[in-house]
Parts: sequence; structure tokens; C-alpha cells
Amino acid sequence: MNLLFMGGAQAQATTLNNLWELQSKTSSINAGRASITSTTAYNEEMVENDVFKYYSNGEWKVSNSGKCVPVINPTTRKTQYKVQACNQEEVDNVIESARIAQKSWAKTPLWKRAELLHKVAAILKQHTKPIADCLVKEIAKPAKDALTEVVRSGDLVSYCAEEGIRVLGRGNYLVSDSFPGNERTKYCLTSKIPLGVVLAIPPFNYPVNLAVSKIAPALIAGNSLVLKPPTQGAVAALHMMHCFHLAGFPKGLISCVTGKGSEIGDFLTMHPGINCISFTGGDTGIAISKKAGMVPLQMELGGKDACIILEDSDLDLAASNIVKGGFSYSGQRCTAVKVVLVIESIADTLVKKVNEKIEKLTVGPPEDNCDITPVVTECSANFIESLVMDAKQKGAKFCQEYRREGNLIWPLLLDCVRSDMRIAWEEPFGPVLPVIRIDSVEEAIRHCNASNFGLQGCIFTKDINKAILISDAMEMGTVQINSAPARGPDHFPFQGLKDSGIGSQGITNSINMMTKVKSTVINLPAPSYTMG
Ligand code: G3H
Repeated sequence: MNLLFMGGAQAQATTLNNLWELQSKTSSINAGRASITSTTAYNEEMVENDVFKYYSNGEWKVSNSGKCVPVINPTTRKTQYKVQACNQEEVDNVIESARIAQKSWAKTPLWKRAELLHKVAAILKQHTKPIADCLVKEIAKPAKDALTEVVRSGDLVSYCAEEGIRVLGRGNYLVSDSFPGNERTKYCLTSKIPLGVVLAIPPFNYPVNLAVSKIAPALIAGNSLVLKPPTQGAVAALHMMHCFHLAGFPKGLISCVTGKGSEIGDFLTMHPGINCISFTGGDTGIAISKKAGMVPLQMELGGKDACIILEDSDLDLAASNIVKGGFSYSGQRCTAVKVVLVIESIADTLVKKVNEKIEKLTVGPPEDNCDITPVVTECSANFIESLVMDAKQKGAKFCQEYRREGNLIWPLLLDCVRSDMRIAWEEPFGPVLPVIRIDSVEEAIRHCNASNFGLQGCIFTKDINKAILISDAMEMGTVQINSAPARGPDHFPFQGLKDSGIGSQGITNSINMMTKVKSTVINLPAPSYTMG
């Protein structure tokens, strides 16, 4: 059934039914632990001479630059794919077509925008496998997690469509006599209006999910969107873009340019045609925020998420969360547990429990669903190694032998880390986790707050009153009580303090961030009071 040709209420009901159906299929996908080994089946129009085209004005195009950028498979360290190296003229064209398309899109009824998003969510889920295949090859995401990322993305888009209906379907009505000195002569009507062209720059670790977390709110709010995916993850993003193409979004409304940051990065972020930037990544975000003009920014720039373990905590629960939080996707998550702060009296027991769990982690290729897979680039692996060597030189206790083959680094717990070691402060973005033994909660809070990051933190204790006090004292965008840090569920607010970011994400906050308020004031010739 074509959602586009149904009325609002009927469409909504059918959409929900479809969602239930898809949910059950999804569960079997997740339960199936599918092993992805096949080569992705490409849509021919997306590729020419082995190079993936970029997506502009509703068409797949070859760049005039005549150049391409290789996407290196982190496992084989060989070129897996090639994408177009777009040039500045092509960026100009994409932004111009986005500017034109947005004008009509903003006049498209909200329910129709929502229907198209529901449609793309369903298509995205139908294309779970080929997109997940790319994630495995481009970023060495374990096969099961790659599948989950795509399914989660479909759910995010659907939820965003429905939340958009609620959030944007409502405005405000204010009367003037509530402010001193005024009679009831003015009625103010406010509504949320789009910003224009939104630039979305997701990171390598969630090239699909953190792309749609920007795309869906932008589109439901009546904006157009230009996507610049990371090079590692660009092909998964192009496949995701193909789902938007299949859904039938207007030409130019959504585009995807690939290429080198050195050639088009600044050009994109400083372009006068861009009206909003949503970026997830590292330090580059700080540079972008300094160069971007008068445009709203949404930034998530990593963290050094601390896990505080108190004496009264459930140590088995804490150990499971430390291992899951610290080593999922080989620690390459901004919300990974990046430092454990444990009270000395329970440290030996905790470390023993954590080590027992680390021993059970499987290490190897993402195709085999291993827990620990190669980190994204050789450069990342070298950086992680530099932190490990610094800690070694300064006397950290290695709970496992340090082992590396190519980009593959075996999971490593570093005990007795001190604050003069780099790993106490820097984020390795890899499977290496420092443990700092502390004497008091105050010391733990001091350590957390001395960091330049402030994304998330977590506390393990059975005393909820104590947990609340500690949470309030921690300078973090989110504090989890008795669980590892995490961004999801995707409708929860997600934000970082200090160098961890600007603004708040999560579906509702992103929709709001990608709009501005417009007021219309009705001025009456004389005061008028409603008498009922
Ligand atoms: O890497 C940054 C992501 O926002 C983390 O998301 O908590 O779902 O892994 P996650």
C-alpha cells in the first residue's frame, strides 16, 4: 500500500501496523546473529568504474574533479570502496538545489512530510543487510551491531515523523496583559518554522544512525539537507541515501557529497547557503564552531565518560556494565566508559570481575561477530598505542598483555592508573580502559570535573539519595545511575557540557533545534477581554 496516497489518520494507522510487522521481522534479524560475508549488491546507477557516485539534485553523479577517495577496510587494510572526491563547485550546486527545494518542501503539509519519512523508514529496514554489509567492511563494525544500527535508524526516522507531527503541529498563543503596563490589546501567535538548509556531518562510528538522527528532524521540520558523510562509512551512507531516493523525496531536498575534508570541509561549513550545522565527531567540531557564521550549531564532540563505583554497589552489575560500556565496538563510541574510578577497598574485587569478563571477549574480524574488531584506521591504532606506552612507562599495571596486529588491538585493562598518565584524561577510542583507584567520592567527582569533556558519566551504588547528590555534582550532560553511559533510547535528550558539545540532541530536541520561532502579533484598536 502506498502511504502517499492515503489520508492522514488512515496513513497513521497503517503506518503503525506496518511498524509492528517490521518490529517482529527486526527481532528475528537481531536474534538471528546473521553472519555478513557476501559482497554488497549495489544498485548500478550508484556506481561507475568501481567508484560510488555522489547524490545531487535527485541524481547519482560522477565528480568533475576526476578524483576519488579510497575507503580502506580496517580489517584487511586494503581499499574496499572508492567514492567521488567532490569539488567546491559541486558543493555550491548541491547547496543551491537544496535552497530551491526547501522553499517548496516548507509548503508541503506536515502530515505528508511525515508519511514520506515513514516510507523511508520502511525502505531502510528492507535494505538492512546491504547497508550493514558496508558498515562491516568500512568501519569493521561487528555484523550483529551493524544490523542493529540500520534497524535502529529506521525506528528513529519513524519516531521522528510522529514526534514532528506532535511538536510542530502546535504553536503558542500569548496575550499582552500579563506583562505590567499592558492592556489586553495584543494577541501573539507563535509557530515553529524551518531554518533553511541544514548541513549534517556524522562520524565514522555511526555513519548511518548519526546521519538519520540529523536528517529526519531536519526534513520533518521543513528544512532541506546536505550530508557530508565520513570517508570511512561513506558507502553505507550512500546506500542509506539511496533509500531516501527510492522513497521519492523531491529533487535537491536531500543530497550527499563525498570527498576530502581538506578540499570541501571548510567550504561546506563556512558556506553562506548553510543555515544550520549538526556535527558529531572530534576536535574538528571546535574548529567548525569558531569558523561557522551566524548559524545554529548542534555539536557532539566526544567524552571521557567516567564510571564511579561506590562500596555499596552491585559489583557484578558494575563489572558487566564496565565491560559492555568500555569495549562495545572496541571502545569506539563517544559514550564508551573511558575511565573507571573505584573506591580502593573494593578495587581488587572489581578488577578481578572485570578481567574475568574481558577474558571472554572474542577478538577478530567483524564478519565473525567478534566483540573486539580492528579499530577504524592505522592512525587510530597508533594513537591508542601511544597512550598505552605512556601508561606503561609511567607504571600502570597491565591486567592483560598488550597485543596488536595491524589495526586489531586486544582488550586491555590498565589498573592503578594515575593522573599524570595521558590515558587518565585522553579518550583512546579503542579497547583500552584505565582504572583509577580513589579514596573518596569527592576525589572521583574532582577527577570527573577536571576533564575538559562533560558528555556522560555513571555511578554504581544502591543508595539512590547518594547517587542523586553525586549526579548533581558531576559536570556532565547526562549521568546514568547503575548503567553504562549511552545515547539511546534515541528520543532521550543527549548533550555534552564543556568541550563535549553545543546544544542538545535526541529526537525532540533536534526537531526544535532545527526550527526557529516566528511570531505574528494581532494588535487590537481597544482592549478586549474574553468574558466566557
Ligand atoms: O559515538 C557517539 C554516539 O552518539 C554514541 O551512541 O551511546 O548509542 O553508542 P551510543
